[in-house]
Amino acid sequence: MKLLILNGPNLNMLGIREPEIYGRKTYADLVSFLNECAAALGCTVEVRQSNHEGDLVDWIQEAYGKFDGIVINPAAYTHTSVAILDALKAVALPAVEVHLSDVDAREAFRHISYPGMACQKTFKGFGFEGYRMAMEFLLGQK
Ligand code: DQA
Repeated sequence: MKLLILNGPNLNMLGIREPEIYGRKTYADLVSFLNECAAALGCTVEVRQSNHEGDLVDWIQEAYGKFDGIVINPAAYTHTSVAILDALKAVALPAVEVHLSDVDAREAFRHISYPGMACQKTFKGFGFEGYRMAMEFLLGQK
């Protein structure tokens, strides 16, 4: 099984940005963790990050016919992006949403997720572990 793992804006700043919320581990640590998870679970992953909404839309579209599922942390675009929601609906690949923090316990504007409306499941507040849970969930769908 081949999974595309997408990370949205400012996740490249992990380790520096708001460590009291997101922890001290870096984005490079996250990528290593995801590759280790993939090896342990016996799947292939491609991990990408962008600060630009259109990149995420393009990558979702390009995943059609190439990947078996998508794990996505749309970051701030979670709360604004109908374009990412529509892209996920367009390709109709099994998708799971991940948030490092528990967005429901934060500001009210973080309680709405547009991309989440096209996802089979959301894992929030589990840090890096949420990505492993998302991968396991998608592998369980197979
Ligand atoms: C986030 C939560 C979002 O509200 C925020 O904009 C992020 C990261 C998370 O992983 O907890 O950038 O998606």
